Amino acid sequence: MAGKALLDIKGVETYYGNIRALNGVDVSVDEGEIVALIGANGAGKSTLMMTIFGTPRARSGSIVFNGTDITQMPTHEIARLRIAQSPEGRRIFPRMTVMENLQMGASLDNLKYYDEDVEKVFHLFPRLKERIGQRGGTLSGGEQQMLSIGRALMARPKLLLLDEPSLGLAPLIVKQIFDAIRELNRTQGLTVFLVEQNAFGALKLATRGYVMVNGNVTMSGSGAELLANPEIRAAYLEGGRH
Ligand SMILES: Nc1ncnc2c1ncn2[C@@H]1O[C@H](COP(=O)(O)OP(=O)(O)OP(=O)(O)O)[C@@H](O)[C@H]1O
Ligand SMILES: [Mg+2]
Repeated sequence: MAGKALLDIKGVETYYGNIRALNGVDVSVDEGEIVALIGANGAGKSTLMMTIFGTPRARSGSIVFNGTDITQMPTHEIARLRIAQSPEGRRIFPRMTVMENLQMGASLDNLKYYDEDVEKVFHLFPRLKERIGQRGGTLSGGEQQMLSIGRALMARPKLLLLDEPSLGLAPLIVKQIFDAIRELNRTQGLTVFLVEQNAFGALKLATRGYVMVNGNVTMSGSGAELLANPEIRAAYLEGGRH
């Protein structure tokens, strides 16, 4: 494994009221990697993504990003550290245009790169350029996902967190989204941590993967190792989704 850990999560426990959703999770993501987290509905995948941003907050354990302990850092400060996310359900601004949504993703520190960054997003997702003045809420599901990723990229992240980018999308669009993630990683060295129910696609894309069951990481390995693992095949790849 090359590089140092850009994100290092150790022993994280997160609760909703008295209910523990994460039971001491260890996950690390090295610089330049694409790491996938797979698991069934309710396993705690989104909770882990949100805990990285401090909402909800880890009750114990530690989260270190790029050498800084962010476990107790306020969410708005974490966002300034060049971690960006495309959350579950995309959460674009439905009444704003494509362009305005992208503007919302840009941070004041990066205004001098604004035009260049918008061009990069349009290069990655030409479809968005065609829809530049259209309101977010009227975009197709796939276009909304592209916009959600594009908006996150406007923050010039070192680490991009993606929660279920393929959810509900047709196979051709899923391929476009995964190709774009691979391209960002390959050409810009962007580090990506993604949550997916599409275990097959995610493990093919990822350098490494983790499997989460009931708030615990139960397995980890290279994408290829996990794809070949009989237990994983039985639990998550039955029927061989492509
Ligand atoms: N705001 C909340 N309040 C109370 N419980 C919650 C809340 N959000 C999530 N949970 C619970 O925490 C557990 C983990 O949920 P989480 O959304 O992290 O799962 P997930 O792995 O992302 O599932 P999915 O694949 O369906 O998105 C579930 O049992 C869920 O019901
Ligand atoms: Mg989820």
